[in-house]
This record gives sequence, structure tokens and C-alpha cells, in this order.
Amino acid sequence: MKHINYIPAENRYGKMIYRQCGTSGISLPAISLGLWHNFGFSDNYSVARSIVHSAFDSGITHFDLANNYGPPYGAAEENFGRILQSDFKAHRDELIISSKAGYDMWPGPYGNGGSRKYIIASCDQSLKRLGLDYVDIFYSHRYDPNTPLDETMRALDQLVRQGKALYVGISNYNPEQTLIASELLTELGTPCLIHQCKYSMFVRTPEEGLLDVLEKRGIGSIAFSPLAQGLLTDRYINGIPSDSRAAKSSPFLTEKQITPEIVNKIKELNLIATRRNQSLAQMALAWLLHDKRVTSVLIGSSSVDQLQNNIGTLSNIDFSEDELNSVNEILLR
Ligand SMILES: NC(=O)c1ccc[n+]([C@@H]2O[C@H](COP(=O)([O-])OP(=O)(O)OC[C@H]3O[C@@H](n4cnc5c(N)ncnc54)[C@H](OP(=O)(O)O)[C@@H]3O)[C@@H](O)[C@H]2O)c1
Repeated sequence: MKHINYIPAENRYGKMIYRQCGTSGISLPAISLGLWHNFGFSDNYSVARSIVHSAFDSGITHFDLANNYGPPYGAAEENFGRILQSDFKAHRDELIISSKAGYDMWPGPYGNGGSRKYIIASCDQSLKRLGLDYVDIFYSHRYDPNTPLDETMRALDQLVRQGKALYVGISNYNPEQTLIASELLTELGTPCLIHQCKYSMFVRTPEEGLLDVLEKRGIGSIAFSPLAQGLLTDRYINGIPSDSRAAKSSPFLTEKQITPEIVNKIKELNLIATRRNQSLAQMALAWLLHDKRVTSVLIGSSSVDQLQNNIGTLSNIDFSEDELNSVNEILLR
């Protein structure tokens, strides 16, 4: 695969849908790319780089990272930094790059959680690995019960004041924590731009209050693992492929989770997708985007083909009442 002199597609802004992130001035692509898997040192760098090129060529302007994406921790930021350096120097201002701190990163009491010490040090490390002066969005990756929310939010605000982040977000906070965090951030003068939450046909917790809080507070939302890590695709319909996430003994998606009941649901959902002339992955993403409170869906991809299939979602994100009811009937069974 040759990449020398990558030149982005001229028509890259032609097909993507951009949605306003809450009440902010920032628009995000309806489909964003996450680098949690497939961008570590053990993954194929050339494939990873092709995926990023193909995404940008298709109007994906938002790339999501975190300090510990890899493996090993930090590897995805380093690899993405390499791609930025070789191919995107002239395009930095066209990109929304995010990173996060909150989960395990380095040993000892300061490498995890929500303390000012951890958030600031981790952001500094991320910037070095990415080779950037600032990230566009910096997230508190999770609520930390052992740190006052005020301390975590002040640390995020400090990053913006230091010019190390343009916007801040929170991830995995429940509705009550989100409300308090966003009020603190507003008081500090650094409003919360976005909430990154786990949301898919199979994980519908954001419907239990979170999306309402976000709408009320003018905060955007980005749904992570919108394909339930690959379950909501044709990947596991006929067994477990050896190159799949489940087969690679990922602690996050195990073969045990792929039960006959889940496979039956997937097959039934796939029939509805076929009637809509979509792949199951496309229908699963469209189903999320059907709700206007979802600013963007944050996909992962292990190949350019998967990525392009997912982008194909945008040609039909509408649902009839009948389709919605049929989907619901399968999901709630
Ligand atoms: N804030 C948080 O706590 C948090 C947590 C998790 C993730 N995230 C973010 O969300 C991003 C996405 O997470 P995710 O990777 O779990 O998302 P996902 O989109 O639910 O799953 C991606 C996986 O699904 C499979 N896939 C994707 N498109 C496909 C297609 N069209 N056909 C068949 N299979 C397809 C691939 O699996 P194979 O690898 O098996 O091919 C791919 O690796 C992460 O990169 C990260 O940025 C955030």
C-alpha cells in the first residue's frame, strides 16, 4: 500500500452530514472515527493509516482518542501523531481531535481518576504523543467518586485557559453527575461541549434521562460503540471470524457474549435492514442518528471497507413508524 504524498479528496465535504454540537458553534460529522482498537503497535500501521485517509476523504473531520488507547497505552495517540505529521500538516484546522483521561494510565495514585494532577499531566503527555499544541476536545473519561467534581471540572477549565484544549467534554457520567458537572463548567465560563456515552440498539441507557439533560443544557452527544463493538453488523451472523474483535480475546467483547439469543436478534434485525436496502451496521447507525439529540455516532473500523460501509448509512437515516416498532419489538424481547 503506497501513501507517499497523500492528497485529500477535493470533494471531501460533499457527502457528509454535519450536525451542530448542542448549542455550541461547532458542527461534528454525523459519523466520527474512534481509535480505541486497530491503531495500536500490534496493528497494521499501513491499514490504520488508510482508514484515516479514507475517513478524511469522506468528510470525517472528527477523530477520537484517549490516553490509554493502544495497546500498549499511548500507542494510538503515537500512531495518529505520526499520521498527522506525515499527511495532515496542512489540514490541522480542518480537524477536531479529542483525547481523554480518567481510566488507568500509569502506576501509582496519580495515573487514574479525576484529580487535577492526573488530568493536567495526562493531557500534557497526550499532546506530546500526538505532536500537537492543543486538542480540540479534552474529556474527563469517567466520573471519579474519590475526587470532588469541582476539582475535575476546574482542571478541564484550566486546560482551556492554558490553550491546551479548545473545548471540554465528559464521558460515562450519569444524568445527575452530568447536570452538576455542566453547571460547574458553565459557572467557570467553559461550558460543557459534549457528552460521550455508550449508546446503541443493544445499550439504551442514555434514553433513561441522560439525553433529556443534555438537550436541556445545550450539550451535544456522541454515541460510542454504536455497533455494540461489531455485534450490530453481519460480523457474527455465521460464527466468530478469526480476525474479529471477539476472537482476538479482547476483554471488552468475549466469545461468551455472543450467545444464541443475541445471534437470533442480530439475524432478525438483519432482515429489517435488508428490507431497507441497508447493511445491519448501516441500520444500527441510522437508528441512532434518527434522534436529533445524537450529534454524531463514534464508530470503530478494522478496514476501509467497514468504514465505507458505515459511511453509506447517510443515504437513509429515516425510519417509518412500522420499522421503528418492529426494531423495538425485537430489542425489548
Ligand atoms: N468513552 C468511552 O469510555 C469509550 C469506550 C469505548 C469506545 N469509545 C470510543 O468509541 C469508538 C468506537 O468504539 P467501538 O470500536 O467499540 O465501536 P463500534 O463501531 O461499536 O465497533 C467497531 C467494530 O465493529 C466492527 N465493524 C465496524 N463496522 C463494521 C461493518 N460495517 N461491518 C462489519 N463489522 C463492522 C469492527 O469489528 P472487527 O474489529 O471485529 O472487525 C470494528 O472494530 C472507540 O474507538 C473510542 O473512540 C469510548
